[in-house]
Amino acid sequence: MNCTGFDSQGVKSTVFASVIVRKDFRPVLNYSVPTQVNLSFTVSSILDVDEQLQLLTSFLWLDMVWDNAFISWNPEECGGIQRISMIAQNLWLPDIFIIESVDVDQTPTGLTAYVSNKGHIKYKKPMRVTTVCNLDIYCFPFDQQNCTLTFRSFLYTVDDMLLGMEKEVRETVDTSRNLIETQGERELLGINKATPKMAVGSSLYDQIMFRVTIKRRPGLYVINLLVPSGFLIVIDALSFLLPAESGNRAPFKMTLLLGYTVFLLMMNDLLPASGIPLISVYFALCLTLMVTSLLESVFLTYLLHMVTTQPPPMPSWLHSLMLRYIRATEYCKKRSPKEKKGPGLNSIHLPGQKDSLEMAGWEPGPSKVELNGDPPSTWAESEHQIQKHKTIDLWVKFSLVLDTLLF
Ligand SMILES: *[C@@H]1O[C@H](CO)[C@@H](O)[C@H](O)[C@H]1NC(C)=O
Ligand SMILES: *[C@@H]1O[C@H](CO)[C@@H](O)[C@H](O)[C@H]1NC(C)=O
Ligand SMILES: *[C@@H]1O[C@H](CO)[C@@H](O)[C@H](O)[C@H]1NC(C)=O
Ligand SMILES: *[C@@H]1O[C@H](CO)[C@@H](O)[C@H](O)[C@H]1NC(C)=O
Repeated sequence: MNCTGFDSQGVKSTVFASVIVRKDFRPVLNYSVPTQVNLSFTVSSILDVDEQLQLLTSFLWLDMVWDNAFISWNPEECGGIQRISMIAQNLWLPDIFIIESVDVDQTPTGLTAYVSNKGHIKYKKPMRVTTVCNLDIYCFPFDQQNCTLTFRSFLYTVDDMLLGMEKEVRETVDTSRNLIETQGERELLGINKATPKMAVGSSLYDQIMFRVTIKRRPGLYVINLLVPSGFLIVIDALSFLLPAESGNRAPFKMTLLLGYTVFLLMMNDLLPASGIPLISVYFALCLTLMVTSLLESVFLTYLLHMVTTQPPPMPSWLHSLMLRYIRATEYCKKRSPKEKKGPGLNSIHLPGQKDSLEMAGWEPGPSKVELNGDPPSTWAESEHQIQKHKTIDLWVKFSLVLDTLLF
């Protein structure tokens, strides 16, 4: 190019006309020599990760550098000007695209490129890319995703175009990290590079593959999902401390279950729309445990009610088992001298039991009966009552042991 007047009158368009005419062709003097395009990119933001459609939408700045053999001038002749900028549409541009992209290229028009006096062209363009990415949400909300961005020429094979790196990958990661200052949901962990050539039929394409690893910031989910759920489960477990015979336990657990259901309904929006993450299994398990514990409470209330009103005869194996258990616990209590002697079989007293015993007609104690000196028929009856009382006691003890076991 004749660069006379670059420094005083600016660039004459007639001077560039020859370059503009040649922009439809690959700018090399010898067509056997492939054009080397060096590229790098910066992730400026991660806009969206769609687990349902398996799409990652991000915003990239793509840097490309290549040589245009048709352009050169001598800076000494034109006031030391070594580079100028010009509209990129007037230049030949490499047709680099991202293979995983599922959206049309929305590059804004009217971008400019730097052209140096040796024909070195520097071109940057912003890209909003939506790429397919295999998103695995099993570990949600502690998941990491690897998304691949493969840069390749759409047309040119290795005979015509070679790709290289303009910047080190480490540099790319650092710049991107600094750029993504927003406290979005995702965090860039790292970028790995691979350069496998790709063969399509008989033609071989050069490509650069970047594996972008992103991580979700789990704070929101830990606070909104895991902590409340954990609290509800702990309260449910602690509600076993409520006395089984008071009858308060089942309504309490019912309320908890209702609360948990409402919690799940409200937090459903936070969960990924597709797939079954581990956390969903955890929620289902929590719900199952709560339902099971409610069923257990209902069963135990029923059992206590039944044995205190109409105690069925105890099976002999259960009877001997219970007696053995009671003997063992009392033996243990005697062994530890610090503890006072616990309530024995006869002195057990339960709030719910008293009413039922009264209802069963067991009002006067045996000593009272003796003092009154009632006829033998009454005697036998009170013997029967004592026996019944003992059976009730055993049944109640058995229910409590069963409750502990099921807990
Ligand atoms: C460059 O062009 C100017 C006129 O625009 C002409 O005077 C000058 O001789 C030319 N220089 C060269 C080296 O061709
Ligand atoms: C073009 O390049 C090829 C390979 O580098 C070389 O063999 C050939 O001689 C070159 N042609 C010319 C005209 O320079
Ligand atoms: C591209 O990078 C390679 C080395 O990585 C270098 O030799 C070559 O000159 C670069 N090409 C351009 C056009 O910058
Ligand atoms: C992502 O890539 C890293 C290494 O680059 C690997 O350790 C990790 O297992 C990959 N994760 C997935 C989900 O593929």
